[in-house]
Amino acid sequence: MTAERNEDQDAVRSLRLDDAQDTEALASVLALSAPAPAIVHLHGDLGAGKSTLARAWLRTLGVQGAIRSPTYTLVERYPLGGGGEALHLDLYRIADGGELEFLGLDDAPAMLWLIEWPERGGDALPRPDLSVSLSIEGNGRRCVVNAVSPCGHDWLSRLDRHGLDCDVGGCHQAADA
Ligand SMILES: Nc1ncnc2c1ncn2[C@@H]1O[C@H](COP(=O)(O)OP(=O)(O)OP(=O)(O)O)[C@@H](O)[C@H]1O
Ligand SMILES: [Mg+2]
Repeated sequence: MTAERNEDQDAVRSLRLDDAQDTEALASVLALSAPAPAIVHLHGDLGAGKSTLARAWLRTLGVQGAIRSPTYTLVERYPLGGGGEALHLDLYRIADGGELEFLGLDDAPAMLWLIEWPERGGDALPRPDLSVSLSIEGNGRRCVVNAVSPCGHDWLSRLDRHGLDCDVGGCHQAADA
């Protein structure tokens, strides 16, 4: 019991993101340390910064040109330089996970899933490695990163080694790492 609880505590990191640049810096750190495949759930209210994080993540991976919001298409796909593709989903508008059947997601050789409003997809979505929760905190954002798979735990350990700094006033240290 105690060990499990300790493991859970170890799997959470909380960061203060002072501005959108901080959100983008965190995205870059996450992108460069991610396993492949990586499945990431992005939680947070309207305007919390989920798309800001997803766009910066895709840019870090070399995606050029427009990065459209998947609000209406539900999914946008991006070929990645190393093979496979990244999927950016925004499920705000779906009524239930059954609507995902028509997107052909099972066929996708996805190396990365960035999923906004994952709670609306329910069991139709693959289980995440990382769950990232953004919330408004004053003029900035609070970001809680939760590792929810063995792969996610390894990922967080790598982030720790690269200096992902928690609760000490920003993500700048992570950005410089
Ligand atoms: N750390 C931050 N501090 C302050 N503003 C931020 C931060 N990160 C992002 N923002 C700003 O928050 C606004 C909303 O961001 P974004 O569109 O990414 O939210 P979202 O969570 O995707 O919302 P939605 O659910 O409506 O799609 C943008 O103007 C963005 O620049
Ligand atoms: Mg969004």
